[in-house]
Amino acid sequence: MPILEQESPKGHGDHHVLPKLPIPTLHQTLDMYLKCVEHLVKPEQFKKTKAIVERFGAAGGQGEFLQEKLMEKREKTDNWVYSYWLDDMYLSNRLALPINSSPAMVFPKQVFKDRSDSLRFAAHLISGVLNYKSLLDGRSLPVDYARGQLAGTPLCMEQYYRLFTTYRLPGLKKDTLVTQTSSVMPEPEYIIVACKNQFFVLDVVINFRRLNESDLLAQLEKIVKMAENTEEPLPPIGLLTSDGRTEWAEARAMLIKDSTNRDSLDMIERSLCLLCLDDTSGAELTDTNRALQMLHGAGHQKNGGNRWYDKPMQFVVGADGACGVICEHSPFEGIVLVQCTEYLLKYMKGSPSKLVRASSITNLHTPRRLHWKCSPEIQERLASSAHKLQRLVRSLDMDVFKFKAYGKEFIKKQKMSPDAYIQVALQLAFYRCEGRTVPTYESASIRRFREGRVDNIRSATVEVLAFVKSMTDGKAAVPDAEKMKKLWDAISAQTNYTILAITGKAIDNHLLGLREIAEELNVEKPEIFSDETYVSSNKFILSTSQVPTTVEMFCCYGPVVPNGYGTCYNPQSDHIIFCVSSFRESVETSSAVFIKALEEGLLDMRDLCCKQNTAAKPVAPKDGATARNGSKP
Ligand code: COA
Repeated sequence: MPILEQESPKGHGDHHVLPKLPIPTLHQTLDMYLKCVEHLVKPEQFKKTKAIVERFGAAGGQGEFLQEKLMEKREKTDNWVYSYWLDDMYLSNRLALPINSSPAMVFPKQVFKDRSDSLRFAAHLISGVLNYKSLLDGRSLPVDYARGQLAGTPLCMEQYYRLFTTYRLPGLKKDTLVTQTSSVMPEPEYIIVACKNQFFVLDVVINFRRLNESDLLAQLEKIVKMAENTEEPLPPIGLLTSDGRTEWAEARAMLIKDSTNRDSLDMIERSLCLLCLDDTSGAELTDTNRALQMLHGAGHQKNGGNRWYDKPMQFVVGADGACGVICEHSPFEGIVLVQCTEYLLKYMKGSPSKLVRASSITNLHTPRRLHWKCSPEIQERLASSAHKLQRLVRSLDMDVFKFKAYGKEFIKKQKMSPDAYIQVALQLAFYRCEGRTVPTYESASIRRFREGRVDNIRSATVEVLAFVKSMTDGKAAVPDAEKMKKLWDAISAQTNYTILAITGKAIDNHLLGLREIAEELNVEKPEIFSDETYVSSNKFILSTSQVPTTVEMFCCYGPVVPNGYGTCYNPQSDHIIFCVSSFRESVETSSAVFIKALEEGLLDMRDLCCKQNTAAKPVAPKDGATARNGSKP
């Protein structure tokens, strides 16, 4: 029997050889914190914050006491911040998962002649998933090594082993990430297929043999027929999982009173993953519309109920060719997701569909449909969840933007870090939209350490503020040479922060640890954490991350605050894909306006570099580094 247990930072296997995440000194963090916030708050407020921080950091004060306790915790655990971080970032967050939390990978548009064609694609994809799963089961994935800054060190692989084994159980105050660990005799394995808002159990291992692609296809055909032929369609229970986490926990408590529902929930929770066979969305299959299909299924009247958001991996195969994966984010980061999906797309390209009848398992039983008993209370809950999802869907303002003028090769030739350069461009775009810089989150991987997840690069540095001002406010008055110097300062500040973050010396995890250990020890909440500056500096109006891919696909996600932007970017050698999201309900934001400012800013930065960057190597025309009017710089 698989055992369900609370996810613990005590992993197994190879990660023990990795170093433990360090804890920066208290003063390093407090000094850096003041530097990060000074230019983002009013001078009077900063004065107050500075005094609070000094009291916190004083010799023999609260800060030193908590630091000591944190050091003790570091000794006793594999990763001192892991569970604090997991709770703070995900499990305590009460917001609905779609758009607010779950990212999606969007596959290239597929051309399906008919439904059978899409089912063949789905069978091929699931066959790849099973192949990948056997690599995971044998713990035989090759170890990843860091690329980019400080390349070459091995990375923690634990996140991969959660792809198909975890489930996010909703709770009234806090969710739980449960992990299935198999015992000696593995149970038959199955996936859940969602079709027309109904859920079916598809066994993928029968009598110790994995179903081949023909078997999978035959089973999927049966499922589609069953979903279409039902006399009385079952309620779209999946919608409940798209609600706020507390609301879903309450609804789930009502559901489990009935044994039929309990059995259905249990089957979904223990499954490997979901395959969502979506109906045609009716929308033109642009990059943006395909991304929206993945993120929210276009609401309850389309495919919004054809999902189960608590499950980490939901593969979506739309009858119209919109395909991808939507993920529950708490078990792993986007980079791990990319590795897995790239494996699948390469598998599908490299191993042609094997639809051979001969080796099929005979007498495949009909997949089981999961049933639900819905009380009037549940029906009311469903109506409310559907309404809320619809509101989220209407509010999401997302655009996928392919910037084609140049890509990371041009930036490398400027002797600059492409990631730092793009972050500076995002700051420039925001400043041009709103005339200010704001708390910004950029995820930095800390997988160089045991059980490492991410820390934050606070990209709205004082140096970038000086640069974006010089490029915007009275820009004609600032000589280009001075703008170039400010650009270099901004890039260097960003690159230095990146290096601090990936080596475990950034401030966000450390401050979180100090805050949470105070709570754990039941000591008085330090003033530094109720200070207005701390509270506002953790509302990330710009939430960004780099998710690069080596095959054609891209990642997208929503903003994390109502008046913010979510910005995911995928730098390629000669172009950059941006996915920008915001909420229509906010009057302050507009994804189209942000994208226009971003494009102009990237072109201005390119022009400036071409004129002024003496460090640059000559740029070959094939990099696309032509002037805005198409002539050579
Ligand atoms: N001159 C020339 N080339 C440079 C350079 C310079 N000054 N600085 C960097 N480069 C090169 C690098 O060597 C690298 O080359 P490669 O493409 O051959 O590997 C390339 O430019 C990219 O480096 P850079 O742009 O600096 O970024 P990075 O790859 O080190 O990435 C982070 C920086 C912060 C994005 C990365 O460390 C990270 O943490 N990634 C994970 C983000 C994440 O978690 N995303 C998912 C969130 S769900």
